[in-house]
Amino acid sequence: SVIAMVAAAVALVVGGTAVIHGDTTLGSLVSFFALAAFLRGHVNTVVTVVPEVISGAESLERLQSVLRADEPAPYDGTAAPRAALPLVVRDVAFSYDGRTPVLRRANLEIRPGECVAISGPNGAGKSTIARLILGFYRPAEGQLLAGDAPYTDLDVAALRMRFALVAQDELLFHGTIEQNIRYGEPLAGDDRIRAAARLAGADEFIAALPDGYATVVGDEGSLLAGGARQRIAIARALLREPNLLILDEPTTNLDRESAAVVLRMLGAVPPDGAILVISHDPAVIAAADRVYRIGDGVTSEEPGHAAVAGAEKRFVPTP
Ligand SMILES: Nc1ncnc2c1ncn2[C@@H]1O[C@H](COP(=O)(O)OP(=O)(O)OP(=O)(O)O)[C@@H](O)[C@H]1O
Ligand SMILES: [Mg+2]
Repeated sequence: SVIAMVAAAVALVVGGTAVIHGDTTLGSLVSFFALAAFLRGHVNTVVTVVPEVISGAESLERLQSVLRADEPAPYDGTAAPRAALPLVVRDVAFSYDGRTPVLRRANLEIRPGECVAISGPNGAGKSTIARLILGFYRPAEGQLLAGDAPYTDLDVAALRMRFALVAQDELLFHGTIEQNIRYGEPLAGDDRIRAAARLAGADEFIAALPDGYATVVGDEGSLLAGGARQRIAIARALLREPNLLILDEPTTNLDRESAAVVLRMLGAVPPDGAILVISHDPAVIAAADRVYRIGDGVTSEEPGHAAVAGAEKRFVPTP
């Protein structure tokens, strides 16, 4: 399929660049290439991180010609994005097949400094909202805006560079922990890799491994526990210093300790950044400033516990 082809093309380009830079061996490139051909559902994640790696390269043009061949890009605006935030989803209706409605009226706003949660039953359209924000699909009705500019005007591929997604079932590729974190930011130095790992609560367990950052994670990260994989995926996302970090079900299958790391992160959003977290986990929802529940394709907003607690703090009289 086109998707598998694109995934393969992306893997080849990314991996090829890594080989040129001496970051990976041809062997691990081949296994990554083989893996990527089967990614299909994960292609969005791959494409999200790739253009930075290959920007300016001749291969980017080839990749884009593959992308353009069968699937027209959902947006064709050209305006350089001024800011990613606030991110607004306004009265959006969306269907994958043009018949079955997934979203009927979705409304959502993410402002700088906020942690916003989306909650709702399985299949409600939570991950779909993330895909719409990333600009992989275009709504049938309504609109999205970033920094007050409509997506229809914007160079959405450039906008996407300011987002990072940790998908619901994020995969690692066969390679070392360091390579997995650096993926998407090939020029990042060791200090930045380590800082990102620390933020993701991964530094300690990595340092405790006999091979440390050089530990090989195995295909799809199979040599690591789920919590460890998740933290590496989060470190990879943080390394990109996104304005908007989207975490899709970040605490599912996590042990308590790993979940606590995620929760701590939700409470430490930088003033110029924001986190959108998709979750059923009451602890995650409680950590958000605002919560959107989604049911029957319609969102409804309620204040989160963090906002209530924050409001109380703000009203404490200064001595
Ligand atoms: N690529 C796709 N093509 C067609 N239908 C899709 C696609 N992805 C999701 N759907 C359908 O759209 C609906 C919403 O899916 P979505 O993945 O957004 O739900 P979700 O709220 O994230 O669910 P979960 O809690 O299980 O992750 C579901 O009915 C799903 O089957
Ligand atoms: Mg989902």
